[in-house]
Amino acid sequence: MSRSRREFLHSSLCVGALAALPAGFFSACSLSSEAVGASDSAAPGSPFAKRFASASAIPFPKNFFWGTATASYQIEGAWSEDGKGESIWDRFAHTAGKIKNADTGDVACDSYHRWREDIALMRAMNLNSYRFSISWPRVQPSGSGAANPKGLDYYSRLVDALLEAKIRPFVTLYHWDLPQALEDTGGWANRDTAARFAEYAALVARSLGDRVTNWMLFNEPAAFVDLGYLEGAHAPGRKSLLDFLRATHVVNLAQGEGFRALKATRPAARVGTAFSMSSCEPATNSEADKLAAERAHAITNVWFLEPALHGRYPEALTFLPETAMRIKSGDMEKVRAPLDFLGINLYYRTIASAPSTMERVTHAQDWLFPVRMAGGQQGPKTDAGWEVWPQALYDMVMRITRDYNRPVIEITESGCACNDGPGAHGIVHDARRVEYHREYLAALSRAIQDGADVRGYHAWTLMDNFEWAEGFSQRFGLAYVDFKTQQRTIKESGRWYAKVAAGNALPVEPHS
Ligand code: FCB
Repeated sequence: MSRSRREFLHSSLCVGALAALPAGFFSACSLSSEAVGASDSAAPGSPFAKRFASASAIPFPKNFFWGTATASYQIEGAWSEDGKGESIWDRFAHTAGKIKNADTGDVACDSYHRWREDIALMRAMNLNSYRFSISWPRVQPSGSGAANPKGLDYYSRLVDALLEAKIRPFVTLYHWDLPQALEDTGGWANRDTAARFAEYAALVARSLGDRVTNWMLFNEPAAFVDLGYLEGAHAPGRKSLLDFLRATHVVNLAQGEGFRALKATRPAARVGTAFSMSSCEPATNSEADKLAAERAHAITNVWFLEPALHGRYPEALTFLPETAMRIKSGDMEKVRAPLDFLGINLYYRTIASAPSTMERVTHAQDWLFPVRMAGGQQGPKTDAGWEVWPQALYDMVMRITRDYNRPVIEITESGCACNDGPGAHGIVHDARRVEYHREYLAALSRAIQDGADVRGYHAWTLMDNFEWAEGFSQRFGLAYVDFKTQQRTIKESGRWYAKVAAGNALPVEPHS
């Protein structure tokens, strides 16, 4: 638990099933060498330095969506209220030793009861889009069969109130809280779960699809399959290379089946997925590291995108264990999902290098995925230890734009953990967060100028909340939450973001 989630993610394919090895082993995964290919971005200065200072406002396209993103388990609380079923996150968080400080999402931000206050926060920030997720076990307690009307009513009221406030409801169907009953029958490693997901998607679309047009099937499939099935750091806490491979394929099948179910129920729906992405740079100029960077891109960014758009697993991974993944004939047609937009969640870049031949031949996982990954070390770090590297957003958006024929893109998450709390007069001065969003948005605007079709930006997150295995120890919000009183206070960053949204532009910096 001493390692942060991102470090797990970075090192996952490095340590994998060998997670029980002593800590020293991990050091082989982190690289001190400087990345190549980043030389065109400005040199890092002081923490969160103004690398994109500009004398005039930077406008965004007309009708751009300015939003925030949240997830059901991270904010709702009310974990067993009104007929809600147990989710794998309820079970995981209630298991001793899984979450920092034994925190749970039982109450979280109590958004199940305080959603009106939360919409008021968004209105105060002038936002016109809200990305939130539906808790599957709240609307279908055991993951199959009849709906729980009280659960659906909650989301229905939320959607109505958002529309009333002129905020687009931007709905994620699965942000990691699988009904525990489905985990009990094998979870995402069980092929039947894909069919259950498609049923659930149709059920929600029938109920909300008269008012909701924009949907995401999954949040970060690469992250939850890796962290939940290979690393064991997230629910359901499994540590198995085989389960990871099986769950990969079932989630890809679910993406295809879910896409078709949603479209069959609501033909006018616009359907995407929010993918976790990170620009992958080779650690050195060697051919081996360049190849490793392509492999890192394959496993990090397009492991669930290539199947959807091209009906294949990424070509950079040449040793696809088809039998272990339980790929059946005809499956590569079923995984296809011609997504209407691609959601990108991006926080940082990844530095890739090649494992040695010895490592490759001695570890099955290194053989299948021959790449070492680590976070960059040049930029300033957030309180989660993640490197701030705005260029990563530019590089990623441009690569996806080039490789996938200029798709419609939504930035579905970006943000930083800065644990600043209220100072004198209760004001939260979180200047580092202002700098983070300013720089990432400046990088995004360059990508738009260079031809990317980006329709919206969703800051992670509306308010401080339950940060998975890190519990409440990391604050990512534009609003501060006092978890004792549930009082919300808009931080300086939230006030700054309100100006950005109102002007549809990055404002001129005060001192430039
Ligand atoms: C993303 C998750 C989101 C939140 C942020 C910090 O990977 O999608 O729920 O935890 O990281």
